[in-house]
Amino acid sequence: MLKLAILVSGRGSNLQSIIDQIESGILKGKAQIALVISNNPQAYSLERAKKHGIESLVVDSDKFKDKAQYEAQIILAIKQKNVDLICLAGYMKLLSSEFVKTFKHKIINIHPALLPAFPGLHVQKKALDYGVKFSGCTVHFVDEGCDTGPIIVQTVVPVLANDTEETLSARILEQEHKIYPEAIRRIAEGQVKIVGRRVM
Ligand code: GRF
Repeated sequence: MLKLAILVSGRGSNLQSIIDQIESGILKGKAQIALVISNNPQAYSLERAKKHGIESLVVDSDKFKDKAQYEAQIILAIKQKNVDLICLAGYMKLLSSEFVKTFKHKIINIHPALLPAFPGLHVQKKALDYGVKFSGCTVHFVDEGCDTGPIIVQTVVPVLANDTEETLSARILEQEHKIYPEAIRRIAEGQVKIVGRRVM
């Protein structure tokens, strides 16, 4: 059973898709959430965790002057739970290289664009403004760069002529909710091996 820690900052629809797949879907009997950690005390994700009886922890990033101290609390909590995999799900803080090194190849993220195109923030708008005809989402391992780690799963969606940032984001999000649990399933089943930049 793969033990997960999920790091969140906001609404938590990806957290919900993981919970749902654990309760009655492709992750049933394969993964469990040991801890949800939020840097934002107001995150709706915390309600979702509570509703499903999942332990959660708030480490309020605004209360720390020093990023190392802030992250040390999170690292400690994760280590205490003997977590196998850390999933970033709408976690809005960049991880330090110390953090990434501590959990090498054990952190994954979901990104609402087809990496390496459009890393960073507001990427659905960037895709629209650029005029690409297809976008999508990516689950990747987290390395020390911003959205640069080895890619595990991607899905493509069309960009339609009348799309707004909202409609494109919604089309991408629907796919995010499928590929994030799918990537976790592959890891839980030991199917995932990193060879250089490639995930086999
Ligand atoms: C998603 O679009 C995810 O790809 C990005 O942040 C958003 C989080 O949404 N990293 P939610 O909190 O999971 O609903």
